[in-house]
Amino acid sequence: MSYPSVRMRRMRRDAFSRALMREHTLLPTDLIMVAFVIEGEGQREPVPSMPGVERLSIDQLLKLAGECVRLGIPALALFPSPGSTVKTEDAREAWNPDGLMQRATRALKKAYPDLGLIGDVALDPYTTHGQDGLIDEHGYVMNEPTIEALIKMSLAQAAAGMDFVAPSDMMDGRIGAIRDALEEAGYIHTRILAYSAKYASAFYGPFRDAVGSAGNLGKGNKHTYQMDVGNSDEALREIELDIQEGADAVMVKPGMPYLDVLRRAKDTFGVPTFVYQVSGEYAMLKAAALNGWLDEKAVVLESLTAFKRAGADAILTYFAIDAARWLRGE
Ligand code: PBG
Repeated sequence: MSYPSVRMRRMRRDAFSRALMREHTLLPTDLIMVAFVIEGEGQREPVPSMPGVERLSIDQLLKLAGECVRLGIPALALFPSPGSTVKTEDAREAWNPDGLMQRATRALKKAYPDLGLIGDVALDPYTTHGQDGLIDEHGYVMNEPTIEALIKMSLAQAAAGMDFVAPSDMMDGRIGAIRDALEEAGYIHTRILAYSAKYASAFYGPFRDAVGSAGNLGKGNKHTYQMDVGNSDEALREIELDIQEGADAVMVKPGMPYLDVLRRAKDTFGVPTFVYQVSGEYAMLKAAALNGWLDEKAVVLESLTAFKRAGADAILTYFAIDAARWLRGE
């Protein structure tokens, strides 16, 4: 009779030794809640492809923000879902000082000054064609003209009190250009969260419904600026450039199918690295849970813990409030 020379199960036998050797523990402070903002008052519009997620008018958004504060969630990421009437070819509503994002930011900062706010910087909710940038006569998204628009959008958000501007557009050189513009205007404390490794993913479908860009985009795609799903060396090059250009934090997006990229990014650069569990990932988990096929609490906490294990410092997720409640035993 021979015995195993190492018994891995010894440490797994009891809860106390499992707790002692646990390498990564998810906390509410790891989470960033994601919210969609709409016009109006008292408005809560369900997003059909994301059961449990609602687009909120600013007064309702304040309640959500209050809940984030109560639960110890450090920040809220805002995405505007403006009505179709403000969409134009040049997206000018994006930098209207009294536009939806700017009003939401001022209201939130007034009510909850310590809650971090992250503003999406991309033109897709504001363009008639649903692309993240300005297009030429062939429909190609033009790099430098788009950056000029993103600068105006970033400055408008910074002026309203946004803590982080988060360019999600994937134009070349936009981080450096936005950084210079912020410095020049005196916004030296405005942080930049760069969507550095953003893939051309089919997992964004429900989000495009939520911000109302899906119909405008139609059969179009974003392959000329978002990254090819098959690449990860390219992700490291993108991240390196964004760090050089002055990003304060970088991001990998989507999350669950890209844990390898997250790990490589964290190991290579060691900078604050965020991950985005996107709308399609939410929809997938939620649909299975609603069918009784998966245990929602267990799979959500497992997926979020996996991000930490893979190297994430913070996680953008539509589950942030639910997860924080579960973590606190509520
Ligand atoms: C667009 C943007 C997208 C998301 C965040 N910003 C979609 C896209 O690139 O088409 C996706 C987020 C999600 O799916 O949850 N600037």
